[in-house]
Amino acid sequence: MDAMEVILSRRSIRRYMPDPLPEEAIRRVLEAGMAAPSAGDERPWHFVVITDKEMLAQIPTFHSLSRFVPNAAAAILVCADLFLSKYPPADYWVQDCSAATQNILLAAHATGLGAVWLGVHPEKKRIEGFRRLCLLPDSVVPFSLVSLGFPAVRKEKDPRFDPSRVHRDRWTPAEDTGTRGGETT
Ligand SMILES: Cc1cc2nc3c(=O)[nH]c(=O)nc-3n(C[C@H](O)[C@H](O)[C@H](O)COP(=O)(O)O)c2cc1C
Repeated sequence: MDAMEVILSRRSIRRYMPDPLPEEAIRRVLEAGMAAPSAGDERPWHFVVITDKEMLAQIPTFHSLSRFVPNAAAAILVCADLFLSKYPPADYWVQDCSAATQNILLAAHATGLGAVWLGVHPEKKRIEGFRRLCLLPDSVVPFSLVSLGFPAVRKEKDPRFDPSRVHRDRWTPAEDTGTRGGETT
């Protein structure tokens, strides 16, 4: 698959085969995560690779949308170390960790794995849950979780290109495009 095909065919996969992931597969997706762009090249990320079945089983007790995570072969907790943030109080680590998360999703799909981005930050209960589960220091914020495994389902592409969301030079009025545009004169 070329890069465009990987981007356009990626879907969230929530059903996994029971097989464990080879270490090489985990390393590849982490390499992709760490290749992401970041503000001023600050690279504020740390990654906690969770493969312990008992730990995976605890995640749904504090994350309401993670029912399928105990069946994943692994989950990667994408975290930010606030001491590595170069521009406080600007929170660019959110964008940095988003880019890393998306790179992990794309690398997983490109290498034949199924994956889902599970939101953690800014949900307090989820942040506290991962802090306790993974013994994170106070300066480290869990940002997202990516569940991973060999896919047990296939999903079709879901084409989403919507020309009404595209504006050329100036904002196109909402009545012409169906978007929630502002007032125009
Ligand atoms: C910030 C963010 C948080 C998400 N949180 C969850 C989650 O907690 N649980 C889940 O099952 N999916 C979660 N998703 C996945 C979305 O539901 C999914 O990407 C969306 O429905 C589009 O489907 P697709 O990924 O197959 O294209 C999240 C996605 C993003 C970007």
